[in-house]
Amino acid sequence: MDYKLRRAVENDKLAICGLFNEMIWSIYKEVNREPYADDYLESFFVDDSKVIFVADSPAFEHIIGYISVIDHIDHLYIDDFCVTEQCRCAGVGTSLLHVAESFALGHHIKKVALHVEESNKAAQKLYHNRGYDIYSRDGNRIRMIKWL
Ligand SMILES: CC(C)(COP(=O)(O)OP(=O)(O)OC[C@H]1O[C@@H](n2cnc3c(N)ncnc32)[C@H](O)[C@@H]1OP(=O)(O)O)[C@@H](O)C(=O)NCCC(=O)NCCS
Repeated sequence: MDYKLRRAVENDKLAICGLFNEMIWSIYKEVNREPYADDYLESFFVDDSKVIFVADSPAFEHIIGYISVIDHIDHLYIDDFCVTEQCRCAGVGTSLLHVAESFALGHHIKKVALHVEESNKAAQKLYHNRGYDIYSRDGNRIRMIKWL
């Protein structure tokens, strides 16, 4: 699949919101959740410690995936992560994870953390196979970490 990985720009906000909704649908089978509050998404474009990376595909003429990360100094937190359904299982998600991990290393951060729903077995498998281990259970969510 032909795509480029790059940092998101403000013009990508609409596409990112669409992918956010796809993520919510995939995980919760719900459509009635609040999308990003505009100031929350905005914070990724004004705060150096928050970054979104996107996979941009000319073939699909739009963004096919994104990962948002937050620099917590002692660890990088993966906030949201989604690849559009028709492009899944083709390595795009893994590439986005690698970009996030490279970003962490570039900022001298050696630990990456995330939460995944207990019910989201596909994502758990992906993380496990990419070196993430279960750290704790927080209600219905599992916290996983990877040391880089
Ligand atoms: C998780 C997600 C971002 C992965 O993106 P992707 O492009 O499909 O990932 P890759 O192609 O690089 O890797 C696919 C891996 O994930 C697994 N996987 C991902 N989605 C899957 C699905 N729907 N069903 C079965 N396996 C799936 C595959 O088994 C594969 O694992 P393996 O290569 O170790 O065998 C994508 O599936 C997605 O957007 N899911 C819905 C939203 C979500 O769950 N986000 C994560 C929140 S914590």
